[in-house]
Amino acid sequence: MSVYDIITVPDPILKTPASPVARVDDAVRRQMDRMLETMYAAPGIGLAANQVNLLNRVIVLDCEWRSNGEESGERRPVCMANPEIVWASDQISVMEEGCLSIPGQFAEIERPATVRVKYLDYKGEEAELEAKDLVSHCVQHEIDHLNGVLFIDYLSRLKRDMMLRRVEKIMKGQEAL
Ligand code: NI
Repeated sequence: MSVYDIITVPDPILKTPASPVARVDDAVRRQMDRMLETMYAAPGIGLAANQVNLLNRVIVLDCEWRSNGEESGERRPVCMANPEIVWASDQISVMEEGCLSIPGQFAEIERPATVRVKYLDYKGEEAELEAKDLVSHCVQHEIDHLNGVLFIDYLSRLKRDMMLRRVEKIMKGQEAL
């Protein structure tokens, strides 16, 4: 299976909301498989459809296979179609986030510490996940992508523009990643 190309800023598809899938059929499952391969190869811990130039509400994540930047070897992928946050804690968590579509840039982002997410799983069945800490940040970050929102949108305009300029240089090969 070949991997998808990962779209980077400022491509407008990253700012475009994705549409729900009618159901999880073989075509969606193939997309999920290929998105996982793309995410593992990148390497990353989450990926949303917009990032591979598709506009349906599909995300994949695996927050455990790489801990502390080391590959743990154990893959526990989670595939979600039509994910929806049905509950969020009042408690806030701050973690450094990055994004495969914004290479080399990182910032501390504030989000609810725990969320419950309803979604359709790989088999197309309704499922629910209670996500804490890193998984919570990851799933919220990926759902944001489906809504056309990037982590840099939470930063000041000055900081966001600085990161966009750095990415532009990286993509032109003028600056190291
Ligand atoms: Ni991202």
